[in-house]
Amino acid sequence: MCGIAGFITNENTDSKGKAVQTVFNQLKLLEYRGYDSAGIAYIDNHEIKVIKKAGRLTELEKLVPNTPASNIAIGHSRWATHGAPTDLNAHPHYDRYEHVVIIHNGIIENYLEIKNNLAQEGHTFYSDTDSEVIAHLIGKEHSDGTSLEEAVKQATKVMRGAYGIVAISKKDPDKIVAAKMASPIVIGVTDTCSMVASDIPALLPYTKKVVILEDGDIATLYPNNITIIDKNGEIKEPEFTEINWDIKQAEKGGYEHFMLKEIHETPEVINQCLSGRIDEKNIIRLEQVFSQQVWGEIERVTIVGCGTAYHAGLMGKYLFEQLLRIPTDVYNASEFRYSQPVLSSKTLAVIISQSGETADTLAALKLCKENRIRTLGIVNVVGSSIARECDKTLFIQAGPEISVASTKAYTAQVMVLILLTLHVAQIREMPGVKIPEALLEIRQFSDKIKDLLLLEDDIRDLAKIVKDSTLLFYTGRGIDYYAALEGALKIKEIAYMHTQECSSGELKHGPLALVEKGVTGIFLSNEKQLNEKLASNIKEFKARDGQVVCLASYLCPQIANSVDKYIQLNGTKCVYLDAILSSILLQLLAYYTAKELACDIDKPRNLAKSVTVE
Ligand code: M6R
Repeated sequence: MCGIAGFITNENTDSKGKAVQTVFNQLKLLEYRGYDSAGIAYIDNHEIKVIKKAGRLTELEKLVPNTPASNIAIGHSRWATHGAPTDLNAHPHYDRYEHVVIIHNGIIENYLEIKNNLAQEGHTFYSDTDSEVIAHLIGKEHSDGTSLEEAVKQATKVMRGAYGIVAISKKDPDKIVAAKMASPIVIGVTDTCSMVASDIPALLPYTKKVVILEDGDIATLYPNNITIIDKNGEIKEPEFTEINWDIKQAEKGGYEHFMLKEIHETPEVINQCLSGRIDEKNIIRLEQVFSQQVWGEIERVTIVGCGTAYHAGLMGKYLFEQLLRIPTDVYNASEFRYSQPVLSSKTLAVIISQSGETADTLAALKLCKENRIRTLGIVNVVGSSIARECDKTLFIQAGPEISVASTKAYTAQVMVLILLTLHVAQIREMPGVKIPEALLEIRQFSDKIKDLLLLEDDIRDLAKIVKDSTLLFYTGRGIDYYAALEGALKIKEIAYMHTQECSSGELKHGPLALVEKGVTGIFLSNEKQLNEKLASNIKEFKARDGQVVCLASYLCPQIANSVDKYIQLNGTKCVYLDAILSSILLQLLAYYTAKELACDIDKPRNLAKSVTVE
């Protein structure tokens, strides 16, 4: 999820010598991608120069030369995935001979294997990134006089995973080469220059005519033209698209709000999150977590988080207890320190946070550390305080989340909890946990989410009904109850609607008193064995004049015949995955309801993305 920029021009144009400044400006236009470090490489006097720095772009700006320096430059703003945000891990990265530099967006799944092989050949690596191996692979192919584009092509044959790569070489200095696989690359051409970027906004001030590369394409940019070869090595005509977005729209990839964009990024996020963690033989690899012996010792899990992260933690409780039979408590981080939690050397604390900076969660982590219990972070932002302070951290690989309402990060947090549970089930040889079957479903999950998003129009229609309700009940049984809690938070947060969330079985113990005409109940139905019980709860609700909407992967005829509206989703064989699917529909429902009510969706009143005060 990094930002990529590149620019090439020649001596006979107004832009001559301005490559570095142009690339820096392009990086500024990609700021919404989030920055933890950035860098630029350019060719000056037949030498490649690299400037790079941890921190925000203003840090890099101090190093940008004031005078026109070059006609060719590439730049990168990093969203750390492998290796902390440091100067050394910032891109660009050199090859062994310092002839080539590259920038990279994505994850190279087999980078460790490549790194070990190259190390045996005498290559030395300076960063902790997966990306540095790309520079070494390209440099190796390029060292015998092979053209830069051919060297890139050969290198991509060795790599597995996702990449948007841009490379320049001092031995082949009149071109920029870009390659794409499952990570976006766009190219723009004018009469006097060519440019490349990860996202359209970086090109818009210069041109509206862009070429969007396809997977397997390798493009070579010259000052005023480009050539492309496709995945089969065939030359292909660049297909130009006219972009009519303004910059603000373009930042959101054409979506009206970051929230909707981020919901639509979920399939890609799931792929990133799984990348390198499940191999072809269906084995879960989470080696960076605790040893087998440690997992054998753990007798209790304590999960801590706030808001959406807390709700992901509830899903974790379900998984740890149902699949691993490990007793699990889940705490709101703000309550944790004051609840005198019972912690022993056999407790594992799981600390969940998207930002890794939430003050309450950080304080809870400190208490765990004072009690010397093992801590495992589930975090999005690499290099954040929580990621650094936990004994071990699993990154959710969701990329920057800009919308205050968390969506894709929640889904990725739950996915990491699922992988963790299956990993431990594997170690503890849990009877009854069908790991291969689960992994088969998990592998297809990204596609399942893509299918699910086709229900968007139905949800948009549903929002028109929901928006007029005086009160919304969010309810379900079993794991559906936890998904319902998160759905309720979402609609509260961005549509400012009053919600009553409870497990369906609890309705009759109190909340049912609130049901009357004008109240809508959103019932989730994924727990097959609880379906008949749910049917009774729905009847109780209907009998009090409440309107009932059901989102269901499984629906017994009794329910289908009694609800006012139902949306059927195409489920999986794992109820915990179906619960995630429901929660994505609830994110969309919150979004479209807030839109109906003309709310400020990405910046809801009274809230902030990262809460760094207690
Ligand atoms: O960055 P964190 O995950 O620690 O943030 C925790 C909560 O503040 C956060 O999930 C909040 O509830 C979201 N705005 C919910 O959409």
